[in-house]
Amino acid sequence: MSIPCDMLVFGGTGDLALHKLLPALYHLHRAGRLHVDTRILALARSAHSRSAYQALAERHCRAQVARNDFDNETWASFAARLDYFAMDASQSADFGRLGKRLGEDHERVRIYYLATAPDLFEDIASHLKIARLAGPKARIVLEKPIGHSLQSAQAINAAIGAVFDESRVFRIDHYLGKETVQNLMALRFANALFEPIWRAGHIDHVQISVCETLGVENRGAYYEKAGAMRDMIQNHLLQLLCLVAMEAPVRFDAESVRNEKVKILEALKPITGLDVQDKTVRGQYTAGKIGGQEVPAYYFEKNVDNDSDTETFVAVQAEIDNWRWAGVPFYLRTGKRLGHKTSEILIQFKPVPHQLFGGGEANRLLIRLQPEERISLQLMGKSPGKGMHLQPVELDLNLADAFHKQRRWDAYERLLLDVIEGDSTLFMRRDEVEAAWNWVDPIIKGWHQHYQSPRPYPAGSDGPEQASNLLERHERQWME
Ligand code: BG6
Repeated sequence: MSIPCDMLVFGGTGDLALHKLLPALYHLHRAGRLHVDTRILALARSAHSRSAYQALAERHCRAQVARNDFDNETWASFAARLDYFAMDASQSADFGRLGKRLGEDHERVRIYYLATAPDLFEDIASHLKIARLAGPKARIVLEKPIGHSLQSAQAINAAIGAVFDESRVFRIDHYLGKETVQNLMALRFANALFEPIWRAGHIDHVQISVCETLGVENRGAYYEKAGAMRDMIQNHLLQLLCLVAMEAPVRFDAESVRNEKVKILEALKPITGLDVQDKTVRGQYTAGKIGGQEVPAYYFEKNVDNDSDTETFVAVQAEIDNWRWAGVPFYLRTGKRLGHKTSEILIQFKPVPHQLFGGGEANRLLIRLQPEERISLQLMGKSPGKGMHLQPVELDLNLADAFHKQRRWDAYERLLLDVIEGDSTLFMRRDEVEAAWNWVDPIIKGWHQHYQSPRPYPAGSDGPEQASNLLERHERQWME
């Protein structure tokens, strides 16, 4: 069991808190992973009594947690930990009130989870300091995106760093908490099989796709300022790229793992000038059908401008300038309102050097994170009968089945427990976040300089056709 702590969630009535954090804490409670003396305090501006907030939280948890995992008795014991405090995080005075509410126990670990817009991060950190709530036992958790550019990320990191030393800052990227993402590290570094061929000489290219069927839901105001580049590529997709491409760390600890990841981010070849048009595609969904249902165009979504120039789709051809990866394209692709929800990594190997049987496809390894967790290796086999006719066959590992259908932890469960235990291996270090912005910024700038407006694509499709061209001109194809 973990240490006792106070988990304070800023943005306590927001989507993230209600849809992800509270259900994750409920699961940890149910699994006996929270200390009996751990309290959860949700913070937001609106006035709610404790019982009204508990009712709100219960409604959301019931909707998010599988029916078999939810029971009234467990909920009642979880709700006993859960409280609400109305405050305005932009007002310094409110932190004095918060301090009184928390009491004097400075030995107690306090975890401030900032599930708010990043423009509040700096204020919250400095108000915590002034109210003497950021003592050596306090930790802070920041949700991505950290800022909207390198400069704003540096300002946030500096402001947070003035209050909390780096070991107490947890920059969350929930993709790192996903079981399959961690399995990617196990696959690479706990098996001798792949390492010798995990390099330019044997790999033709890599694809990393995170395709969603969801639109922007009720996050239009946030998304208008972010777009797919800041919302997904800058963090989730680049983190996946790091895990595919990094060297084996000397130890599985926070510094060793993050040192290797940052080297990859720093080795990303800058995409600037005309390369921006050549190596990136932006798209925006128009009206279409998802699962048989009509959905509106992005620019008709709530809180979105009618003439919005925000991208809901991005495809990029990235390259890593180092010995292992020189010349191997890493194609990244993400989009909302696409035909299917899938997150996957494809490692496309090179063909055999000599085609003995007249044809055959090159091997590929597919690591699927969503919807089901699976790792499959496509090999060539001989089809039954006379003659050497080749046919692709798959070695297919379904991770849920392999682990006997044990409940797979949600990413936030794992990451929240890591914060409580003070383990930052699966969190982004300051230099990682800044290196990622350093690569992303010139692309965004190039789009604006060259008036590269998003290409329309109908909801329910595979994205704009220009994204296919990105690969087809090199005789490659996106994995469908
Ligand atoms: C979030 C993005 O970080 O990740 C969302 O802000 C996106 O726009 C979500 O929908 C995707 O996460 P997952 O776990 O559903 O793939």
